[in-house]
Amino acid sequence: MSGALPVGRRAVIIDCDPGTDDALALWLAIASPEIDLRLVTVVGGNAGLARTVANARAIVGLAGNPVPVVPGAERPLRGRFAGERAVHGDDGLAGVVLPEGPPAVQALAADAIRAVLRDASAGSVTLVGIGPVTNLALALATEPALAGRVREIVLMGGAWGEGNWTPAAEFNAASDPEALDILLSLGPPVTLVTLELTMQALVTPARVEAIRRLGGGACLRAACDIMAAVPPSRRLGGEGHALHDACAIAWLVAPALFHAERVGVEVDCGPGPARGRTHVDRWGRSKAEAQVTLPETLDTEGFFALLGTRLSRLP
Ligand code: BDR
Ligand code: CA
Repeated sequence: MSGALPVGRRAVIIDCDPGTDDALALWLAIASPEIDLRLVTVVGGNAGLARTVANARAIVGLAGNPVPVVPGAERPLRGRFAGERAVHGDDGLAGVVLPEGPPAVQALAADAIRAVLRDASAGSVTLVGIGPVTNLALALATEPALAGRVREIVLMGGAWGEGNWTPAAEFNAASDPEALDILLSLGPPVTLVTLELTMQALVTPARVEAIRRLGGGACLRAACDIMAAVPPSRRLGGEGHALHDACAIAWLVAPALFHAERVGVEVDCGPGPARGRTHVDRWGRSKAEAQVTLPETLDTEGFFALLGTRLSRLP
């Protein structure tokens, strides 16, 4: 969408690596009138760049949304992406096949992000990162003045306790800690939606069936198929899995579902076993500035009600 921004809507860029929960996040964003989705950029992350780009195209295509999809980083700033195939499968969507989407734009994610930030009609822009944040960091590290055009940065990533990728670190943070470190110190306000929050968005068979009963179109059916296909998490007691990335979108469209605190966060960029760990100071014990908003609790039933209502509006 272009032109002057209607009151109450915010211009948003989503950087993602679909990814089952990325798919739900993208559909939730597309279905939400509070969000003026200007750009979707894609990073290798969960399943390798070729797959994540194809999936992003298919997800926006199924929703009939004309938002440009732009490929980005195939690698993090250091090392390589490992992928999270145990959760998302080799295809990134847990085996659920979507019709092929419109072609990706022949550009690079970091360039496309900077172009939207320079576009005065967007006003100030909210950046949402739901994968390793390589693209966002590259865009802003190479032209830091554009941080002045960023309204806020909302990231799914990190944990204040145990990780889900290593004992110390969450997948997105562990996949590119240097990129996360760049975003944390850039200047615009940062919200970090961590594992402790997203585990409250527990997808169970009963919750999937409740959404399926709403009817709706191809997007709602595919969303339910994807949620039903993700294996339950041992870490979460085998009852279901966490819908991590959709929580970052819910934070933007329904902040009343959350309780949040201000905290200091540092990311471990060292080479050892703590690499990617987010040191979250919830009790003011370090000298770190409380520069991050940390949603701590989620109204779980309200979240799934929102998700169902919004999905049922899509084609
Ligand atoms: C994050 O890791 C990915 O596998 C998910 O898509 C989510 O963004 C959760 O740790
Ligand atoms: Ca993701």
